[in-house]
Amino acid sequence: MRLLVTGGAGFIGANFVQQTVTERPEVTVTVLDALTYAGNRSSLDPVADRIDFVHGDIADLDLVDELVSGVDAVVHFAAESHNDNSLAEPWPFLQTNIVGTYALLQAVRRHNVRYHHVSTDEVYGDLAAGDPAFTERTPYNPSSPYSATKAASDMLVRAWGRSFGIKATLSNCSNNYGPYQHVEKFIPRQITNLIDGARPRLYGGGHQIRDWIHVDDHNRAVWAVLEYGRAGQTYLIGADGELDNRTVVEMLLTEFGRAPDDFDFVTDRAGHDQRYAIDASLLREELGWAPRYADFRAGLAATVAWYRDNEHWWRPMKAAAEQAYAEAGERTI
Ligand code: NAD
Ligand code: DAU
Repeated sequence: MRLLVTGGAGFIGANFVQQTVTERPEVTVTVLDALTYAGNRSSLDPVADRIDFVHGDIADLDLVDELVSGVDAVVHFAAESHNDNSLAEPWPFLQTNIVGTYALLQAVRRHNVRYHHVSTDEVYGDLAAGDPAFTERTPYNPSSPYSATKAASDMLVRAWGRSFGIKATLSNCSNNYGPYQHVEKFIPRQITNLIDGARPRLYGGGHQIRDWIHVDDHNRAVWAVLEYGRAGQTYLIGADGELDNRTVVEMLLTEFGRAPDDFDFVTDRAGHDQRYAIDASLLREELGWAPRYADFRAGLAATVAWYRDNEHWWRPMKAAAEQAYAEAGERTI
């Protein structure tokens, strides 16, 4: 199989490419990535000599058409992915997440290429405590510019499936953690603060709930959908990992031998979603997928160890990420 992976220099995409090259040597991988602030070519170093890397924009219609014409399938990870950035400046989210997806859909339509669309549980909005988890039938209700543009891209995929018959599947996953995640995101931000001797920073009261899944489990699920998913079907991906943010910070503080209350509360995120939770029954029952990282605390400890061992990877991004938070007005409360 010849595979085009968009966003392969980002967090989930780089882990997907590494997993694919390692476990599926029969697959030929081409990565298309614009190397935005979130893309890092060095995340592909372990497999650099076994892939083709194209530095380019998914919204470049001619480039995308040419690349798609030479493959059997596309897995589309590329996106602007951070909620806080979408609040500060929404436009890149519309351009990449909507227009970029449009370019890919037109190309797979023209060349009759299999397409898998990687999306997020945030398209469903948030849940109150005690609400049932999201399913494939939950109505869309996005809260932020980021999640609204992801929802729009999902709708484009569905429309291209129904109107033009493209062979598309979609997956909507919960919060990922693991190696190579940008230090702007919650878990790597706190880990790298702790490595630097600084305090973790919790938005609002720290009571928001996220449904954590290890990135390798997400990527194995993407492969299950790519190989065995039904055309036109959405599959939710999650590993029953609900935890509130304060609990995650307390686990990290314990891992670093610090007191569990050694953190700061900071300004809350505007429109902050309270809770996400995934019911992955369809994926588990129809495709036989199950997560391998059952123990979040162990997965978190391995992630801490990765950031300790790979300071050369994250250090160049750390100051700029913290400066962006300061410029956005983040204050200790
Ligand atoms: P990321 O921000 O770490 O990486 C995004 C990658 O896309 C980067 O390499 C960046 O350079 C590239 N990119 C951005 N704009 C581009 C463009 N116009 N053309 C080509 N490349 C471009 O993101 P991530 O966390 O790895 O997320 C990957 C995908 O998974 C996204 O679609 C996101 O919505 C989805 N998702 C993420 C999570 C999560 O917890 N991180 C959960 C569910 C779904
Ligand atoms: O649910 C899937 C989504 O998960 C993906 O679609 C997004 O691409 C990904 O970024 C993630 O979105 P979140 O907004 O949930 O992730 P983030 O890491 O930004 O924040 C996780 C939680 O932690 C959220 O409730 C906000 C909070 N937070 C975040 C930061 C950066 C803090 O309390 N302190 C922080 O410093």
